Amino acid sequence: MKGIILAGGAGSRLYPLTLVASKQLQPVYDKPMVYYPLTTLIEGGIRELCLISTPQDLPRFRQLLGDGSAWGLSIEYREQAKPEGIAQAFLIAESFIGPDAVTLILGDNVFYGGESFYRAFAEFRSGATIFGYHVNDPERYGVVEFDARGQAISIEEKPRSPKSNYAVPGLYIFDNQVVQITKDLKPSARGELEITDVNVEYMRREQLRVHRLSRGFAWLDAGTSSSLHEASAYVQTIEKRAGIKIGCPEEAAFRRGFLSLDKLEAQANRMPKCEYREYLTEVVAEAKRLARNLPQ
Ligand code: TTP
Repeated sequence: MKGIILAGGAGSRLYPLTLVASKQLQPVYDKPMVYYPLTTLIEGGIRELCLISTPQDLPRFRQLLGDGSAWGLSIEYREQAKPEGIAQAFLIAESFIGPDAVTLILGDNVFYGGESFYRAFAEFRSGATIFGYHVNDPERYGVVEFDARGQAISIEEKPRSPKSNYAVPGLYIFDNQVVQITKDLKPSARGELEITDVNVEYMRREQLRVHRLSRGFAWLDAGTSSSLHEASAYVQTIEKRAGIKIGCPEEAAFRRGFLSLDKLEAQANRMPKCEYREYLTEVVAEAKRLARNLPQ
């Protein structure tokens, strides 16, 4: 399974913040926004990644994430010259996807809690898997309607009169058909290749699964000043209360077995004195304590 992080777009709703740094590089509490979707993919076991952004912003992402080898990943970069739709990612990254299945995650989506995604990754064989999440303001998103048996029966992009409160979050798992399906799409009235049209095509082929995310799960989209602030407040609350970090790629890569304990420790030691370093140092110390207590 390959992974794409889509981190382009105009970010106009965050103006003037986005005059100097792209939306997905803005802080969500104590780390850059893109760390959160990156961590979600790592937790899902994906280590071959491609990040897509604008020609102006791509150098910054490279500076931040490098080639991924520090975290046991490989990260490639591709440009999206203009924001011509989320589904355009599959055309831009066609050579990266090759013959594989692919998960696309939006660079401004923060997910937290539950096992739903990891089960979906593990169970994925073919077709498409997307998710449904109950929200207050479904008209801002792709909206999925279910029948009495819980079967998805329609998906509409930003409908004026939503048929349900279930929005489709920005994480989509597709088999390799997605490349050809996108090639066959026509741009929508707003001139974009719509991810909803990809989902509708999988639904027409009877190959779309929609998992409803449980109430305990958090999906935050940090695309407006308010939602950015709320996402920061949410992350701060959980991190302070639980003494853990959300969206920490180093820790996720270590727990997934992509990064050895020694390498994690070396990375923490290279960081300046900060809370982030202290946290990773504690993760290392705890792992060492646990290893000592293991029966030989
Ligand atoms: P949006 O939030 O819908 O758009 P935006 O980021 O351009 O913001 P604004 O509406 O304030 O101008 O996009 C959702 C995510 O998808 C976001 O992370 C940006 C990304 N995206 C792209 O990278 N390329 C695209 O062509 C589109 C449409 C979105």
